[in-house]
Amino acid sequence: MTRFTVNNQPVAYDMDPETPLLWALRDASNLTGTKYGCGTGECGACTVDIDGKAVRSCQVTIGAIEGTFVTTIEGLSRDRSHPVQQALIASNVSQCGYCIPGIVMAASALLREKHDPGETEIAEAISNLCRCGIYPRLTDAIRRAAR
Ligand code: FES
Repeated sequence: MTRFTVNNQPVAYDMDPETPLLWALRDASNLTGTKYGCGTGECGACTVDIDGKAVRSCQVTIGAIEGTFVTTIEGLSRDRSHPVQQALIASNVSQCGYCIPGIVMAASALLREKHDPGETEIAEAISNLCRCGIYPRLTDAIRRAAR
């Protein structure tokens, strides 16, 4: 049994400890906001927060994160949208939307570390891939969320 915390709830997964966190979240906890894109750590669609850091959940096993605190897009903000989500909506950033949960998780982790990131810092921190090419609007929105 592997135990840690997801969205402030204790979880115990009776799964192979080598199971990627992505699949435990999606298949065992039905937290399907965390997306599968590449499965190789490249796209960032599966990004979640583990102990305050943006992590690609396809690249970490549940056995490796025993005792940690995981936050998914579903648990990012309780009562209303997170400021990053509000800025993305205000700037009409999303197109197909598939990459957005992972981007929001990466951006929220960035803004906890840097309160007013510049374009270069945003580009370095948000390496998530978007096939719709939202990057210019995304950068503007993250800067707006920081203010
Ligand atoms: Fe994890 Fe692409 S699905 S980085």
